[in-house]
Amino acid sequence: MSSKLPHPIPYQGSKRKLASLIHPLLPAKIDTFYEPFAGSAAMTLYAAHHGLARRFIIGDCLEAIIDLWQAIVETPERAASRYAEVWSGQREDNPEYFNVVRERYNGEHDPVDLLYLICRCVKNAVRFNSAGRFTQSVDKRRLGMSPEKMASAIAGASYLLKGKTEFRKGDWLLTSVDARSEDFVYMDPPYLGTTVGPDKRYRQQLEQDALIAGLVSLNQRGIRFALSYDGMTGGKEYGPPLPEHLGMTRLLLHAGRSSQATLQGKDHETIESLYLSGNLQAPERRVLGQQRDLQQALVF
Ligand SMILES: C[S@@+](CC[C@H](N)C(=O)[O-])C[C@H]1O[C@@H](n2cnc3c(N)ncnc32)[C@H](O)[C@@H]1O
Repeated sequence: MSSKLPHPIPYQGSKRKLASLIHPLLPAKIDTFYEPFAGSAAMTLYAAHHGLARRFIIGDCLEAIIDLWQAIVETPERAASRYAEVWSGQREDNPEYFNVVRERYNGEHDPVDLLYLICRCVKNAVRFNSAGRFTQSVDKRRLGMSPEKMASAIAGASYLLKGKTEFRKGDWLLTSVDARSEDFVYMDPPYLGTTVGPDKRYRQQLEQDALIAGLVSLNQRGIRFALSYDGMTGGKEYGPPLPEHLGMTRLLLHAGRSSQATLQGKDHETIESLYLSGNLQAPERRVLGQQRDLQQALVF
């Protein structure tokens, strides 16, 4: 089912494959579905397709990706034709073309230039330096999503979200500031194990502290939420569990094979943590075994 959903932004770390596993864990009635770490907004697309909420709020601190979402949803034909124009400028014998678009994006922050860069860069993994410049290189083995496929994905996403979606730029705490108890917040922050930089441990601690403080505030306001956070590949844990005082239930979801491990010739399963807020009904192990969609989920 989820493979038929439109996915115009092929983002590394997309929750596209996990969406159907997360679905049965969501509350039956949601007014507004918040996705404040949206990226390619896979959960929002899934929720809209299945009619799980009345409205949607898509937020991200990467401003250009929010501009991109707005262009996709509100002016789909224009976004698709601009993508076709950028994409058609490339020739297999001109590897420099990607760098030209990258340079232009770094100067002008055009959202469709960003879409092209995401589609053509190594592992679809956006990387920025400390000055905010896009630094990822081109994947020379492929051309990126064709304009026809992109036009259809953009039209599909627009059809699902137009007229019921609000777009917010900035930190997740700001995006979710007006969430109420009838709403639902799905969070997928960058994982501890993936944070990079010379002062990695210090920054990780700061980031985790800010995340925990934000979750405490959601709890105090009675907000229902789920949080994808860290996990393990081949028995190696990415990060320690979040503190018990948050009152969340931790589930482990089988996310399939790790693409990284597959590239290295290893056969490792990736398991991702999903934390549910204490005010959500957590499934029991007995129930998990009986429901088809949840067969592979485990209560930790
Ligand atoms: C793991 S990705 C989310 C992927 C998403 N679930 C999907 O399906 O594509 C994390 C996203 O959070 C954004 N981000 C990082 N820190 C943030 C913050 N403090 N507030 C809001 N967004 C943030 C990043 O720009 C990135 O797009």
